[in-house]
Amino acid sequence: MKIAVLTGGGDCPGLNGAIKWVTKTALDPALERKRSIRFEVLGVREGWKGLVEVNPDDPESCAEYLLPLNEEVVRTWDRYGGTNIGTSRTNPFNPKNDRSDRLMENISRLGIDIIVAIGGEDTLGVAYKLYKRGVKTVGIPKTIDGDLLGTDYSLGFDSAVNVIMEEIDRLRTTAGSHNRIFVVETMGRHAGWLALHGGECSGAYIILIPEYPFDMNRVCDLLLERKGREVQYSIVVVSEGVKPAGEQEFYKDDKIDDFGHHSLGGIAAYIAETIEKKTGFETRYVMLSHLQRGGSPSARDRLMARWYGIAAVDTILNEDFGRMVSFSQGEITTVPLKEVVDKLKIVDVEKYYDSERYNGKRSIL
Ligand code: F6P
Repeated sequence: MKIAVLTGGGDCPGLNGAIKWVTKTALDPALERKRSIRFEVLGVREGWKGLVEVNPDDPESCAEYLLPLNEEVVRTWDRYGGTNIGTSRTNPFNPKNDRSDRLMENISRLGIDIIVAIGGEDTLGVAYKLYKRGVKTVGIPKTIDGDLLGTDYSLGFDSAVNVIMEEIDRLRTTAGSHNRIFVVETMGRHAGWLALHGGECSGAYIILIPEYPFDMNRVCDLLLERKGREVQYSIVVVSEGVKPAGEQEFYKDDKIDDFGHHSLGGIAAYIAETIEKKTGFETRYVMLSHLQRGGSPSARDRLMARWYGIAAVDTILNEDFGRMVSFSQGEITTVPLKEVVDKLKIVDVEKYYDSERYNGKRSIL
């Protein structure tokens, strides 16, 4: 049985660990002994792009896009961030350039029996469409945005929150020395999880999230309230997808990707400039940008990558296709892909956000 594993969408720490554990578990000699099943594992380079563009008749093209995986190849992978098999934002079902027939044909001509897709809503959306066309697919959740439904944890989130926390720790010393306000922009697209958790664990004074359009005057009033108190500086964390009330999100440029997403970013500059103008406080801004996806995986991401990789092979053995492995109420389980695509898990403002203080809620139970 040939398993093809691929990573799609934005890279992040934890992907390599998941690939390693899919490979190690599938190729475990005990599996062959106990269940008389022999797997072969193939890493597909550059996500769905690799499976669409590979030419099964051309050995050079196969060598470019397909990497046979074994225990020796993946041995050290779990320590490293990024994805060693590459990724892309290619959408084979893009209505403007539908290449799904070619994808189906390649899957069949390459003799691929099962696809393990590691990714967020976009990548798993493709896996679900393939499943509906009869391809045996299993999903592993990954996104630093934390916005995937059907799971309490997606790979990459914890490592990204740690980057935010560490960078804010660094900023505090310079912010304090200069009595400055720092506006820190996080990623997260339309979900405020990264900003909220990153801001909460680093003690940010203000946190702005896309789920609650903010009032610039309120931000300035909150900062002015602090004037003359013992604290000489403030950290304002803003998610890239935030909107001033009644206005639009900030786009980096006019480009739209294969899944129809704009590139968000740049709101921190506007907020910093407005704060300085309205309050007179010296203000600087920092966009953490792709630093949040860099570095090596946190302990949590290494552990979850291992568990998800193992669970993906269990799901294959149980012939539970069309499902995503997931973490729910402290347990590893699976959910139908159908339930995790086409919608995002965003912050429940009522439950988690203090819309007066623009921060995490101070009542939990
Ligand atoms: O979805 C992950 C993410 O990092 C978002 O938070 C961000 O908006 C986007 O990807 C950036 O994408 P790219 O790497 O294509 O610039």
